[in-house]
Amino acid sequence: MIHIKSSREIGLMRETSRLAASTLEMIESHIKPGVSTEDLNKICHDYILKNGAYPSPLNYNGFPKSICTSPNEVICHGIPSEKVILKDGDILNIDVTTYLNKFHGDTNKTYFVGNVAPEIKNLVEITYRCMREAINTVKPGGRIGDIGAIIQEVAHGHGFSVVEEYCGHGIGREFHEEPQVVHVGKRGTGPEMKPGMTFTIEPMINLGSRHCQLLSDDWTVITKDKKWSAQFEHTILVTEDGHDILTLRSDEDATF
Ligand code: MF3
Ligand code: CO
Ligand code: CO
Repeated sequence: MIHIKSSREIGLMRETSRLAASTLEMIESHIKPGVSTEDLNKICHDYILKNGAYPSPLNYNGFPKSICTSPNEVICHGIPSEKVILKDGDILNIDVTTYLNKFHGDTNKTYFVGNVAPEIKNLVEITYRCMREAINTVKPGGRIGDIGAIIQEVAHGHGFSVVEEYCGHGIGREFHEEPQVVHVGKRGTGPEMKPGMTFTIEPMINLGSRHCQLLSDDWTVITKDKKWSAQFEHTILVTEDGHDILTLRSDEDATF
């Protein structure tokens, strides 16, 4: 069942989503060579608590930390660690989910650490374009399959691959609700988008093959070929005449 949020619930979703977005804005200046992903986890954890919220990943199905930190060949669900120290040329995805007012807001961004190679910068920029073009398809009467179709077209058009095992999701009182938002697919298929729906779009795009491998910590997902992977995520509301990006940051344009 896909929940349609009331205007009161949408107001609460806006607040939690705004906090998730501001956490990504806040952490940006801390991302530099020499910093550990556990340092970043601690800063985000304290910020989220200080703002009266709870970090949804902490203890979620046993996840041990407050954010996910996924560098380079890590596709998603990387666990922050003192042993993972950022170095010049890395990329790092930080995925923040906040629980405020009994509602979740979920967003992630891939950051550059110092000077990143042009080929990798291009991967990150095209991944952002995949997410934004997918967001642009969201409107009442649209179908969930329209999202995967455009992501697949843009990514494949640049010779990149799309991860299929992990997807976007409905979000609200639950971290992960219906519908499932797959990042590949066919236009005109899947559930119809209706005003009041809230879901994430979070494509994971690989430089090499789409295949993944789960590490023995049972969380960290890496590329099978160890080539690098990028991701961006926003929480989206379907409105009467289109959509709203509930986790939009100040470093982004409202339209794309
Ligand atoms: N935030 C992730 C998502 O986009 C889920 C992380 S689950 C965790 O859906 F347990 F790893 F935190
Ligand atoms: Co998500
Ligand atoms: Co997320």
